Amino acid sequence: MTRAIYLKAGGGYDNIFLADQEISDPKTNEVQVRLHASSLNYHDYAVVSGIWGPTEQRIPMADGAGEVIKVGGAVKELKVGDHVCTTFFPGWLDGAPNVKGFETVPGDGIDGYAREIVNLPTGSLTSAPNQWTHEQSATLTTAGLTAWRALFEDYNLTEKHTVLIQGTGGVSIFALQFAKSIGAKVIATTSSDEKIEKLKALGVDYCINYKQNSKWSEEVLSFTKGRGVDLVIEVGGPETLNESINSVKVAGHISVIGILSGLQGNLDFVNALLKQVTLQGILVGSRAHQERMIAYINQTKLFPIIDRVFDLEDIVSAFQYQETNQHFGKICLKI
Ligand SMILES: NC(=O)c1ccc[n+]([C@@H]2O[C@H](COP(=O)([O-])OP(=O)(O)OC[C@H]3O[C@@H](n4cnc5c(N)ncnc54)[C@H](OP(=O)(O)O)[C@@H]3O)[C@@H](O)[C@H]2O)c1
Repeated sequence: MTRAIYLKAGGGYDNIFLADQEISDPKTNEVQVRLHASSLNYHDYAVVSGIWGPTEQRIPMADGAGEVIKVGGAVKELKVGDHVCTTFFPGWLDGAPNVKGFETVPGDGIDGYAREIVNLPTGSLTSAPNQWTHEQSATLTTAGLTAWRALFEDYNLTEKHTVLIQGTGGVSIFALQFAKSIGAKVIATTSSDEKIEKLKALGVDYCINYKQNSKWSEEVLSFTKGRGVDLVIEVGGPETLNESINSVKVAGHISVIGILSGLQGNLDFVNALLKQVTLQGILVGSRAHQERMIAYINQTKLFPIIDRVFDLEDIVSAFQYQETNQHFGKICLKI
């Protein structure tokens, strides 16, 4: 018998409980993984808090990292002792996106990884980075991969480019680290002067407190000598998108990723067309994207920024902490 966190239909912090879970041997094409860590994303928060609660009882959390402890008879690519990361879309292995929405996503449409043991087909996993701990590896499935895809799969970021990131959550800090790792310039917005110091320590070229200057695109244009940035990692949503369009260069690219400020707003259509901007929606990425990201991480000295680690049993406290927006980078669960 092993343990798992369950979320009753509809979600909400009062509907979470820890219980035993029966576990069978892995099927012939599966491996059994002892999960050691997960990490919190805004999407997990929306499911667990009940904003987008599940329609039936669910094990939450999209991210998982751990160690293979049993191997099915037909499995060739993994062995006992291997360290692995779960994938966000178990059915999107490679190529163009073939998924819409969250029906197949662990922790939302299917059971996720707030549990000790799971049996998975090898296609739902990749190897973890060589030198990373389980907690570090658990930051990649959602936040790491989204940032990676926006910068390097759907855009070809180089040291010649300038990228704008918003806020200091999981996706944005990964985008900052990946962008800096290839020598690109980074402009960052944040709500806090204290976080500005942390951003500078990570090499950010120009920081803006968006609480003090809601028209922050003026500062972006001033820093870029009127040209604008090449790429925006847009996580704010309705309150930030028009400022992002103002901030991007002519024919620039905006990766439309987040909805932190709400679900609907007014788009400045005229500015969007005058700027000839590309707005590209992104939903995490494929297993092949994840493999390429991890191969890149293995060649660099890049490690994720983890703000705090909570025990699995303290999952509600972890989400309550995320709600305060005090974190810088990732919040993890130790399983
Ligand atoms: N499309 C995808 O594939 C995908 C994947 C992952 C995440 N997302 C989305 O991306 C967003 C960020 O996700 P996350 O997991 O990185 O979140 P997170 O770690 O919870 O990040 C929250 C941080 O964002 C900043 N923030 C909060 N409200 C803001 C606002 N109105 N404008 C600008 N910044 C704001 C705050 O940083 P400061 O205090 O520094 O301002 C806050 O600490 C969410 O909307 C999430 O759903 C989308």
